[in-house]
Amino acid sequence: MDEKITISAIKADVGGYVGHSSMHPALMDKAKELLESPKNQGTLIDFCVTHCGDDLELIMTHRKGTENGEIHKLAWDIFVECTEVAKELKLYGAGQDLLSDAFSGNVKGMGPGCAEMEILERRSEPIIIFMADKTSPGAWNYPLFKMFADPFNTAGLVIDPSMHDGFIFEVLDIFENREITFNCPEELYDLLILIGATEHYIIKSIHRKSDNEIAATSSTQKLNLLAGKYVGKDDPVMMVRCQSGFPALGEVIEPFSFPHLVSGWMRGSHHGPFMPVSFEDAHPSRFDGPPRVIAAGFQLSNGRLIGPQDLFCDPSFNNARQMALDAADYMRRHGPFEPHRLPLDEMEYTTLPAVMKKLKDRFKKIN
Ligand code: F6R
Ligand code: MG
Ligand code: MG
Repeated sequence: MDEKITISAIKADVGGYVGHSSMHPALMDKAKELLESPKNQGTLIDFCVTHCGDDLELIMTHRKGTENGEIHKLAWDIFVECTEVAKELKLYGAGQDLLSDAFSGNVKGMGPGCAEMEILERRSEPIIIFMADKTSPGAWNYPLFKMFADPFNTAGLVIDPSMHDGFIFEVLDIFENREITFNCPEELYDLLILIGATEHYIIKSIHRKSDNEIAATSSTQKLNLLAGKYVGKDDPVMMVRCQSGFPALGEVIEPFSFPHLVSGWMRGSHHGPFMPVSFEDAHPSRFDGPPRVIAAGFQLSNGRLIGPQDLFCDPSFNNARQMALDAADYMRRHGPFEPHRLPLDEMEYTTLPAVMKKLKDRFKKIN
């Protein structure tokens, strides 16, 4: 089979149930109904509709390549129609991620998040789509680094000849709107000085060094910057290919056994542990969190999505969940203090300008 297949994961929050915590089944039903005819007509090979928290996730396979206008319009139109359902049910924040009234060819820069890759399907093509709620795309930096550059996580980097050369990391500087690539392991330390700053430098994609084959890609939209003001957290998605020259499935999900701290909890303004959960538990509630991640595993079969397998629905992640709950308790006790609360200039919600305006004449200079 030497035909190229594209996998597109496009997501948006078009209404929450209840509050920002989860998704009403009517929205998923609507999305599924609307994807049936493009599948029957051959625009799509296959699709899967799911949700993580209040984010509607459309996973689609097709032969049209990445950033294809027809596919992006299809997703956009579905989000618009689902918004109508959300409005009718008076769901919370109906249409909150649709930042523009008119579609202009590509969902990038319009609110929805999107991760896509075009691949030549291998003899067997295991792929994992990770979806998160109450966090931002920088949340993927830590696990992507572990998967593709840390030999203590990924044994294959050390003992599998097909991975031993390492991987190339493409990193986006979201403030300057520029990108840079790093060869690893040679440039590990240069990579880390940047990607440790997860709200500034974001890993966009990873390629295998030996043949430049794409291994992973993430959604790099920053909704807060896009809209110029806060309109909803840019809850990210990413996809990772597994096995035979890529990290094994177990190496790809292993980084989530540590619930590292991410930003995005409560009002997009707090740090909290990134908790791996089953599909069933993907409804952040406590203090609107803690931030959650689900992993949907698929085998591709000529573009058909065989799956999903709910990869975090596994007792071997129970310790990670317990650690996340302990970390959540610990962080919560800080209340409005950093490092639970984000630094002043990174909060999605703030009263600072108004407070400073009110207080401006009361500050006395100290000599
Ligand atoms: C949404 C989120 C939530 C909201 C919070 C306040 O993704 O992170 O924590 O920010 O529920 O929402 P509003 O301002 O809509 O009442
Ligand atoms: Mg919401
Ligand atoms: Mg969300």
